[in-house]
Amino acid sequence: MFSVNDHNRDAWDELARQQVPLARPAGEKEFAKPQFIINPFGWVDFEVRGRKVLCLAAGGGKHSALFAAAGAETTVVDISPQMLDLDRKIASDRGFKINVVEASMDNLAVLPEAHFDLVVQPVSTCYVPSVGPVYREVARVTAPGGLYISQHKQPANLQASLRVSPLGYTLLEPYYRSGPLPPVPTGSALRESGTLEFMHRWDELLGGLCRAGFVIEDTFEPRHGDSAGAPGSFGHRCWFIPPYFAVKARRKTSAPVAKKIVLA
Ligand SMILES: C[S@@+](CC[C@H](N)C(=O)[O-])C[C@H]1O[C@@H](n2cnc3c(N)ncnc32)[C@H](O)[C@@H]1O
Repeated sequence: MFSVNDHNRDAWDELARQQVPLARPAGEKEFAKPQFIINPFGWVDFEVRGRKVLCLAAGGGKHSALFAAAGAETTVVDISPQMLDLDRKIASDRGFKINVVEASMDNLAVLPEAHFDLVVQPVSTCYVPSVGPVYREVARVTAPGGLYISQHKQPANLQASLRVSPLGYTLLEPYYRSGPLPPVPTGSALRESGTLEFMHRWDELLGGLCRAGFVIEDTFEPRHGDSAGAPGSFGHRCWFIPPYFAVKARRKTSAPVAKKIVLA
């Protein structure tokens, strides 16, 4: 039977074999300035040394290695064995202790409840059909008061054409849609070819966090736009369509989880 997770596992294994930029472990540059990866928005307001950190859907030997180097008790979860091999290799090369877990972000049953002080998730919710189960699982494993810092592809980024026409970028996909997005050609810096990607609406991305038991404390849109970029280039498209956003959410300590309003 067809499974999105099986498909994306194979696709990311292949991307890891190809050593695409997202599958490159931390090098000397990153170890010299780890804050660009472990605290890029200045939202981690405590010393990570000795704290329990989950790097979710973050295989590739970058996040896990830098948190481990900073003294955090580090776990990395990813669906791709090849991506996780990069975490294992850097841990062994540098003598770090990293707990490496092969699992899907929407089923973290192997991880204990209320355990992590910090969960960081690089852009990756686009690889699951529904973001709700991911948030519920993260809420379950995050300690009360713990932080969940995640990054996502903005809906418009996934709706719009990659190519520019004389009229600009075209809105190709409806906002209210389901199922995987059409495949993209190789070589796009905005999409990962071979993977199945899904668009999530703002209500799902932000409201979903609140309904899972988090309070949103801040958001950020990383700037990649280049007003002077050549039409069709990464910088030019990002000048018109912000590609990503980041959200800082804190696990509620006691209040009951809100229920979604269903209009009759
Ligand atoms: C953008 S990469 C993130 C890490 C990357 N090393 C970096 O430098 O930011 C996205 C990751 O999500 C993983 N992934 C895709 N689907 C997943 C799923 N259902 N559960 C867990 N991880 C998944 C991929 O294997 C890939 O390693």
